[in-house]
Amino acid sequence: MNLKFTIIATWSFSASGVKIGSEILKNGGHIFDAIEETIKAIEDDPNIDSVGFGGLPNMAGEVELDAAIMDGKTLSLGAVAALKGFKNPISVARKVLEETPHALLVDQGAEEFALSKGFQRVIMITDKSRKIWESRIKKRSHDTVGVIVMDESGNMACGTSTSGTFMKYKGRVGDTPLVGSGLYVDNEIGGAVATGLGEDIMKGCISFHAVYLMSQGYSPKDAADEAVRNIYKKLAKDKKAHDDISILCINTNGDIGAATTRSKFEYVVSSEDIPLSIFVVTKIKILE
Ligand code: GLY
Repeated sequence: MNLKFTIIATWSFSASGVKIGSEILKNGGHIFDAIEETIKAIEDDPNIDSVGFGGLPNMAGEVELDAAIMDGKTLSLGAVAALKGFKNPISVARKVLEETPHALLVDQGAEEFALSKGFQRVIMITDKSRKIWESRIKKRSHDTVGVIVMDESGNMACGTSTSGTFMKYKGRVGDTPLVGSGLYVDNEIGGAVATGLGEDIMKGCISFHAVYLMSQGYSPKDAADEAVRNIYKKLAKDKKAHDDISILCINTNGDIGAATTRSKFEYVVSSEDIPLSIFVVTKIKILE
């Protein structure tokens, strides 16, 4: 098989980060560097109010962040949840993966760990996000960045980062740092990352479900459709309890598929064959 580097990411706002990640892969860099640098660029951007610096706060007015990175070779996860005061939770998550025997650190423990690894505390709220919090303007905020990369040797990794839902309870954790819900990758099958309302996504463990379906011969597109359709049909029975769900998948051939319950969902692709491009998928037919 003639493998080629590929990087895919949720939402068009990821394009600037994907450009950085694809340069790393093109130059033979490590897949973890590609994940980390792609997501860092998005975390650092104050105009993206659902990820990192400038993310919308919880009820207490604090920016609480979740992030994770998963290795497709070992199936190891590094994740942090409810992390406050650090600009790049994806970098802290990578340290959890590479330098601890654990998978997930939360809240104060994650913050003490970040300090011990030399990360600097910063004020994470911006004037814009503080104003939104003070006025309690109802605003959606669960547009997670999810990135999957594959190098020319077929090694895969994925990563996610979010500030979670606006006005969430202090300590609330969504799907983003949870293996199988917000992300999953296996070098022998492929990977998936999810975005949308975490409380819904985790009910279906949709990233693991999509990867499992690919292991059973589903194409990434069919796996994405089926993983979303399966949980959405169940959630639709309780009409007040469901929100958006979107998923992005890739298999070991580099075939890509996405599915969404929104009117449209954008994702970014860059590979040896495809110059940086934004693709759009529209709402799946739920009740087929
Ligand atoms: N999917 C992001 C969250 O619900 O926190």
